[in-house]
This record gives sequence, structure tokens and C-alpha cells, in this order.
Amino acid sequence: AVVEHTFNVGNLSISQLCRPPMIITAVNGQLPGPTIKAREGDTVVVHLVNESPYNMTIHWHGIFQRGTPWADGPAMVTQCPVKPGATYTYRFNVTGQEGTLWWHAHISLLRATVYGALVLHPRGGAAAYPFPKPHAEKIVLLGEWWNANVHDLDDMAVLTGNPPRSADAYTINGKPGDFYNCSNANQTYKFQVRRNETYLLRIINAALNTPMFFKVANHSFTVVGADAAYTTPYATDVVVVAPGQTVDALMVAGAAPGRYYMAASPYDSAIGGMPPFLMANATAILEYAGSPTGDGAPPPQMPQRPAYNDTETAFRFLSNLTALVLPGKPTVPLAVDTRMFVTVGLGNSDCQPEQLLCNTTGTRQPIFSASMNNASFVLPHAGAVSMLQAHYANASAGVYTRDFPDVPPVIFDYTADASDTAELKFTAKSTKVRTLRYNETVEMVLQNTRLIAKESHPMHLHGFNFFVLAQDFGNYDEAVATPQFNLVNPQERNTVAVPTGGWAVIRFVANNPGMWFMHCHFDAHLDLGLAMVFEVQDGPTEETSVPPPPSDLPQC
Ligand code: C2O
Repeated sequence: AVVEHTFNVGNLSISQLCRPPMIITAVNGQLPGPTIKAREGDTVVVHLVNESPYNMTIHWHGIFQRGTPWADGPAMVTQCPVKPGATYTYRFNVTGQEGTLWWHAHISLLRATVYGALVLHPRGGAAAYPFPKPHAEKIVLLGEWWNANVHDLDDMAVLTGNPPRSADAYTINGKPGDFYNCSNANQTYKFQVRRNETYLLRIINAALNTPMFFKVANHSFTVVGADAAYTTPYATDVVVVAPGQTVDALMVAGAAPGRYYMAASPYDSAIGGMPPFLMANATAILEYAGSPTGDGAPPPQMPQRPAYNDTETAFRFLSNLTALVLPGKPTVPLAVDTRMFVTVGLGNSDCQPEQLLCNTTGTRQPIFSASMNNASFVLPHAGAVSMLQAHYANASAGVYTRDFPDVPPVIFDYTADASDTAELKFTAKSTKVRTLRYNETVEMVLQNTRLIAKESHPMHLHGFNFFVLAQDFGNYDEAVATPQFNLVNPQERNTVAVPTGGWAVIRFVANNPGMWFMHCHFDAHLDLGLAMVFEVQDGPTEETSVPPPPSDLPQC
């Protein structure tokens, strides 16, 4: 079947946190935007009509885009932006994926308000889940809200070289909930449930920069999926989701009839030197049918939240998930063609010509940046073509280079402060890709560094799922790590939260020709350069090659 939507991106006037109405950019006048529901095997067609004053693109986060690389969406990687007044049609198939994904703007900071859920049902509908069919399903979209025009925040960040300030509120389904100044009843999302029924919660972290703990007072969960891949059922009373990740969890409404808070609270893994961030909770209300709700009703109970820096709880959840092995599903490849050891972290770069600092000082100035293997990624400059267009035309010159290193340029003690290491002080800004042969198997060690600060970076790969073989704290040591690899039922993800001051090992098969972004899903770090691109070459047939661009592909 074909699932067709029109996304009108335009202005929405909205009032949050008791402030005068402000104009945000939103799809079809909704925050969050519309939910797309499809079945495995369907074709999804979305007509993007850009009625906003900003350049726009939409990314279908986690969709493989096999054979449709022009529909992936990251600005200047797979397409030029859709200009104000212009349109573009995204067309892709849902193949081999079931569960929860999402979509978001992939340009500037606009994903703060341009995002929504993407629900992928099995071909046979809910009856075909590999777990008991729930009575109902609920989307739980976690987000961040700014009392500001996020486009201006982004301009400011580019100018100063500092990441944008932290959000003014966290949200559940677009609403901050009861614990902010001046919140009122219609700024709290309500979930109605019936006693003893089972609900499938599709929890998505759409926040720009904040991993979240999610709890519901007096209720617990059985996790059955993550990033649209089924997991072995995992019992827990707390769910942890880093930006970009999703978790599908069953919850039985088995408590005494009444009202309960569902709370999303921040997880801050940074140690040392980071700006203060927002210490608040987003809440929604779980309301049992028939509960008293009037003035005399008892207030909802609040769950006990983990401390903001509870790395132990975050790590336990994130590292304990395993895949549900099903017949016909891909299993982890045992032979590896290419091994990469890639540092991910913060650092410094030379200031850029467009930045204030450069204009006011004559000497070389380091500015805050982020990098992978000490290469700090910048998108090719607007006015050119996207990287995929350059790849397709065999004309990479002036757009990107093929020298992304397989190992860091200097070996250092990754988990110690190495900020003064001369070779790491002035990372060059660059647009480097790593070229892969079609069907090559890649194993990548992602090693967090402690230049400036160590932090759990949610690393997202476009175009593929990868298997997470192992993860732990400290410096990666092959001899110690290899015996820990799960080669039987490792979790499959599109976004892995590399443990703070630690490492994660992932494996994937490059069976999808195109240009695929890999980046930290903290928006602030993506802007600072924590990114790279895989250029996957064509296979032997037309089917395994990048197809010609659609006729309406935007031009820069
Ligand atoms: Cu959800 Cu490139 O991101």
C-alpha cells in the first residue's frame, strides 16, 4: 500500500509557559507534527510544501532508504534545502523494519519544533507482534522547548562558536506539564487508561541535547523494542532514551484507579566544564477511567526519578538490551572487512571566518568544537551541490575529500584530560568522508574522549542499523573487549549512546549505496562538527546503485 501525506511547513502561533504567543515553525499547524503510520512493505510518500521563511529538509530517522538515498533528508549531505515557497516529495519504502521511528527537520535547529512519530506496524498488523497484542498504543514524544526563535539561536551559535543555550522546558507530546511556572491544565498531556489493560508505549527522544530517564509512578515496563528492532523482553521500572533513540515498552495499567505522573527527567553524563543545563522534569498524567478528577481529587503521584547524573542506571538499561532473534532477521556478520577506531568528543578548532572572534583578533584563536578522529566536520558550503549530488556526478572536488582516517592521528589517554596536547588543539574544519565498497562489513570502535569534557554521545548512523557488540567505560583495549562481544543476539540500533568516558563497538554491512551521515544526535555537537559521512560505492547491478535523482530534487 501507499501511505501519502502532505506536510505544510509554516508558522504556528503558540503560547507556552504563560508567555505571550510566539511564532514557531511547525508541520500542518501541529506540535508535535503528524504521526505517520505504515506497515512493513508499504511505500511512504510525503509532499513537503515549504511555507515557512526558512530553508527546510526532513529526515526519516532510522529508515534504511535502501534504493532511495535522495529521500534521506540531511541538508547538504543528500540534498540541497527546500527553499521558502518550494516543494519536494520524499518517497521511500518500509522494508524489514517494525516498531517506532520518527521524522525531523535536518537543517539548522529547526528539528526543535519540526518533528513527529513514524510508526511501523508488521504486515499483519498488531496481531503479528512477537509479544501479546496490547489493548492500545500511545506515542510518548519527548522534546525540548525554547522561549525563543530557534533559528535565531542557531545563527547566534554560528556567530559566537558557542553552543546554543539550554532549553527552557522539556516536553511530553509538546507539553511541559505541571512542574513549570505558570503551566496550566491544557499544557499537560493526558493519557487515559483502563484498569488491567496493557499499553504499548512508543517512547521517542526528540530532544535536541538531552538524554532522558522516563518513569511512571507505580508502574513498570517490559521493553520489547528499540530503534524499530525487537528486543528480548526486558523488565524495568525506568526507561532510558538518548536523543535519536526510541524504546517500545509494554505497560500494564495494574495500579489502583487514580492518576499518576509520567515523568521525563534529564540525564547529564558530562563531567567537567559543561554549561549548566535545565534541571526540570516534563510530566504527563496517566489517568484511569473513572478516577475522580474534580477539585477535591488527590494530586497525581510523582515517580521517584534517578539523579540527573545517574550514569549507572543509564548504562545498565542501555547495555542490557539484546535483540529478539527471529527467523529471517539479519544476524551479526562474523567476518569483518574494515576495522575503524574512531574518537568522539569535544575539543578546539581554529575560529572560522564567519565568527566574531576571528574578526577581532589577529592571532590564532581556538574555538569550542567537536570532532571524530580529530576531524571536525563542516557541511559543504551552500551555493554548491549536496554531497550525494557530487558523488553521483563523480565530481567530489571542492565538495568533500576521501581522507577520513581509520585511526586517530595521535594516540593519547582518551579518558584523561588531553586538552593541552598540541596536535589536538587546533582541529581543522573539514568535509571528509570514508569510502566503503558495496557490501563491505565495517566494525567501528567509538571511543569517547575527555578533551574539555567526557560525555555520553548518542552516535547516529543514517541508512543502516548496526549491531552493538559491546560497550564499557575507560580506554578501549581489544584484548579485554573482544571476549565481551555479543555475537549471538546483540541489540540492533541506529543510535548508540557511547558510555561517558568509555567506548562502544558497532558492526554493520555497507549494503546501501549512497552518502550516509554519521553524527552525534546532540544538535549542539553536530553543529560543532561531531560528524562524518560514509560514501558507499555502487554494487554490481542497477538495483544496487544510486538511482538518478528525482526530477524535483531541490537545487542549491
Ligand atoms: Cu535524527 Cu542525522 O538525524
